[in-house]
Amino acid sequence: MVRPMTETNLTSAYAGESQAHMRYLIYADRANQKGYPNIARLYTAVAYSEKVHAGNHYKNIQHKGEVSTFSGALFGSRTVEEDLQNGIDGEHFEVDEMYPAYMEVAKAQKEYAAEISFRFAWEAEKTHAAFYERALDAVQNEKDLDLEQVGVCDVCGYTVEGEPPERCPICKAKKERFTLFS
Ligand SMILES: [Fe+2]
Ligand SMILES: [Fe+2]
Repeated sequence: MVRPMTETNLTSAYAGESQAHMRYLIYADRANQKGYPNIARLYTAVAYSEKVHAGNHYKNIQHKGEVSTFSGALFGSRTVEEDLQNGIDGEHFEVDEMYPAYMEVAKAQKEYAAEISFRFAWEAEKTHAAFYERALDAVQNEKDLDLEQVGVCDVCGYTVEGEPPERCPICKAKKERFTLFS
């Protein structure tokens, strides 16, 4: 069995990633409707990355049956700019607060599979905030985001613009493991 503190963190992270996945798909719809197809494509790619994280966490949860999950989530945005600000705030929380704490607990409890699952997500999330900051800057200048093809690693969710690397810098997966959004 996974130790209870780490298991709770896994279910919370699963819930948070699941909500982020859906939130970004909702934001993608709004971006498309408002005439920002590249921002919509970015959201679709990042939503896929969050699904990879949710899937990794889910695989590490050993408890069978019902669990009440806890996760912070950002609500209330009504414009493309507010959506992007929610995205930036959510990503920063994960990178600065949530995953560092979860990784420390997993390490202290010698739950190494969970620690890897948290670390993959933590490293990948770092790329997301930077994309959203660029997108917000574009919208504030009344332009769509200038965005090349985006690749997402199927193993860890690492998100990269342009040609994917031969090996994922986070998990070392091969280039073929990247799903492309173009
Ligand atoms: Fe993210
Ligand atoms: Fe990867």
